[in-house]
Amino acid sequence: MRILVTGAEGLIGRAIVASAASARPRDHLIAVGRSDGDVADPRVREALLDRHKPDAVLFCAAFTAVDRAGHPDDIVRAEQINVHAPGDWARRVPLWWLSSNFVFSTPGPHAPSAAVSPKGAYAHQKAQGEQAVIREGGNVCRVGWVYGPGGRTFGSTLVERLRAGHTVAAVADVLVQPTWSLDVAQSLLTLPEGTSHHMAAETTSWYGFALAVQAGLERTERTQSTVAPVRLADLALPDPRPRDARLEPATLPGWRSRLNALVT
Ligand SMILES: NC(=O)c1ccc[n+]([C@@H]2O[C@H](COP(=O)([O-])OP(=O)(O)OC[C@H]3O[C@@H](n4cnc5c(N)ncnc54)[C@H](OP(=O)(O)O)[C@@H]3O)[C@@H](O)[C@H]2O)c1
Repeated sequence: MRILVTGAEGLIGRAIVASAASARPRDHLIAVGRSDGDVADPRVREALLDRHKPDAVLFCAAFTAVDRAGHPDDIVRAEQINVHAPGDWARRVPLWWLSSNFVFSTPGPHAPSAAVSPKGAYAHQKAQGEQAVIREGGNVCRVGWVYGPGGRTFGSTLVERLRAGHTVAAVADVLVQPTWSLDVAQSLLTLPEGTSHHMAAETTSWYGFALAVQAGLERTERTQSTVAPVRLADLALPDPRPRDARLEPATLPGWRSRLNALVT
């Protein structure tokens, strides 16, 4: 089977590329990154499909800067890749499209069949992308709070700031299930049919997560830092964040079991 991955240089795309040989040893993975063109452009899409003739596409390319997705300077570009491209690709090829737990704003945990309730530009874009993919017979894979090796994620930024001895403000009133990118990749590479959730088992808050990372660093490196709890409202973020966008089933390894990989 030939599996094409878009957004292959992003956090989850990279993890898929790294996991493919072990997860699908008999299949051929084609990694498509930025230098291969704008995958929201129909000409680029058709050229990629002609050249690579994939049997399945794992679509990780997205405009992921949540607070900019509705900004007048970015909204057109964000909607092209988050809203329009997914349906166009799903019409042409068996598609597994990555969506977000942010499509939910009601209290969780949310089952794959739960009604979405997006709030904010980014969440609305992801919900519209989902509808388009489903309409065209594609598959929707929801993920959330992903962190992992390489690049900048909340996990790496947290470790960097704690190592530097900074005081880190961490939100204490949002429930999260931090999920290791390589676990997400293994799960996505099973190519589940329909709408699926790819989420770690343990619930915490960003504050709880930051405290555990801080304790891990202090044990191994004797760093001195401070973690301070804040409320979501204190951050005054331009795009609203859900307070309980937990997903179920949550079957991937819990974040505590991945802490060593994060702090070493
Ligand atoms: N990471 C999370 O915690 C999380 C949570 C919920 C949902 N998701 C979903 O998971 C998917 C992957 O997320 P991620 O964290 O891996 O994102 P990411 O690290 O931001 O990677 C996205 C990649 O897509 C590329 N890209 C964006 N627009 C493109 C376009 N028009 N043509 C070609 N490439 C384009 C980006 O390139 P540039 O950097 O050059 O723009 C980047 O390499 C997204 O659908 C996202 O909504 C992620």
